[in-house]
Amino acid sequence: MQKVRPQQFVAVFDFGAQYGQLIARRVRDCHVYSELVPCDIPAAELAEMAPSAIILSGGPASVYADDAPRVDPAIFELGLPVLGFCYGHQIMAVTLGGEVAHAEKGEYGPAELVRSGSSELLVSTPGDQTVWMSHRDSVSRVPEGFTVTARTETCPVAAMECAERRLYSTQFHPEVRHTAYGRRMLENFLFGICRLEPSWTMDNIIEEQVASIREQVGDDKVILGLSGGVDSSVVAALVHRAIGDQLTCVFVNHGMLRAGEPELVEEVFRDQFEMPLVHVHAEDRYAQLLAGVTDPEEKRRRIGTEFWRVFFEEAEKLHGVRWMAQGTIYPDIIESGARKTGGKASTIKSHHNLIPFPEGVHFDLIEPLDRFFKDEVRELGVALGLPAKMVYRQPFPGPGLAIRIIGEVTPEKLEVLRNADAIVREELDAYNEDLFQKTGDRNSEHSCWQYFAVLPDIRSVGVMGDERTYARPVILRAVESADAMTADWARLPYDVLARISGRIVGEVPGVNRVVYDITPKPPATIEWE
Ligand code: XMP
Repeated sequence: MQKVRPQQFVAVFDFGAQYGQLIARRVRDCHVYSELVPCDIPAAELAEMAPSAIILSGGPASVYADDAPRVDPAIFELGLPVLGFCYGHQIMAVTLGGEVAHAEKGEYGPAELVRSGSSELLVSTPGDQTVWMSHRDSVSRVPEGFTVTARTETCPVAAMECAERRLYSTQFHPEVRHTAYGRRMLENFLFGICRLEPSWTMDNIIEEQVASIREQVGDDKVILGLSGGVDSSVVAALVHRAIGDQLTCVFVNHGMLRAGEPELVEEVFRDQFEMPLVHVHAEDRYAQLLAGVTDPEEKRRRIGTEFWRVFFEEAEKLHGVRWMAQGTIYPDIIESGARKTGGKASTIKSHHNLIPFPEGVHFDLIEPLDRFFKDEVRELGVALGLPAKMVYRQPFPGPGLAIRIIGEVTPEKLEVLRNADAIVREELDAYNEDLFQKTGDRNSEHSCWQYFAVLPDIRSVGVMGDERTYARPVILRAVESADAMTADWARLPYDVLARISGRIVGEVPGVNRVVYDITPKPPATIEWE
């Protein structure tokens, strides 16, 4: 079923990977809904989506390159306000009859912008200000009807506009924080020029989503696979808010969760939300399935396949369920390859095809988070009443502790790792909290982003009391990162390391040594398998 977008929304034309996403985020930060669209979308198709405004993003190409992305010129005839940044600025210029020239010298980093004349886009920003530039080409002649409203020393057309047609563009990047008045410019566009309302707030979003889920589902029953992770938990809370007991959550406990996690799922969903919750104790089944398996990819494959088998067995027992709710989020959709497959529709389809429905079984999908970024999902979770420890939980792989045990997974090793990991989390939660109390910054550069214990498949000699031991080491992994793409090992204070080591060796039977992994990513990865 086609979902209805909020009445007011901004279509962000994406000319290159990260640029569009960042702009979409900034618009949403201003409480206006925004969505990425492929940059070559035909004007007629865009008109059907009925956006309130268009933003043309930056991008890495040169407008005169053979394979440079283009826009349908008719989008400028739709009567919609348009704002272009960087590549978007240049594409607007060449599409409307101006010129772009290849400059001798590029301009990268901070630049001093000097305004000229009045501009609604630049209103309430100083005459001289710092902006962020990243370009070699620049507009050398503006299209007819346009005026230049700002320049820098090396860029004579740093901003241009045709106020009459509500067309604006800048060579610099207002969406990056280094452009001192970037947010103000965006607000000037959204609220001053486009006259939009800042109405995309959490309360409105919940109200809108609840209405849309109710309309979509009617009196039907819905099933949801709960993992204890952020996305599925937030979907559960949202769908439950919409349709109450028509939703049944199935929590497949594969026995490889961290200490306290199954209990938290029970506490939140059964006790606090009073949802119908099926807790499937599949621990033994998984233990058998993993016996003797040492290859990490094989572990992942078996765990993933078994999850769906168990889930569908439970789903069939429930009778008459038509829908399945999923915690797909916006980056999943974007990353599953909108660009590669050449359009959003085909992407969503390929994404859905990942679910291995057994022969003769089918559910229609509802994915109420498929337009939200991760931090918006978290905000939604908090607004729906989920506890912070669930909503702000650090990334935890689907195969769980199984890929933190090197080699074969056995119940004995799981017990050792779970206990050691609980100590790591307790100590580093406290360390992060302490740092927050001192700095007031949750993302302080020295706070740990992800931390856990790993159990390698070796033993070493030790001495405890008068006795020689031959027992397991535990590896401590603690990293600073923003997005898991790169990471560095956390420079933890020695006393924190000492306390963790002392506690693990003292409190976890079978461990006689603790080592700290001091490798960044790359060349290592965050996980060990
Ligand atoms: P790596 O180890 O590749 O991990 O540096 C990057 C991030 O992804 C998480 N991760 C996984 N998440 N299934 C998941 O759901 C997996 O198989 C998996 N492997 C790694 C990891 O915890 C880190 O945050």
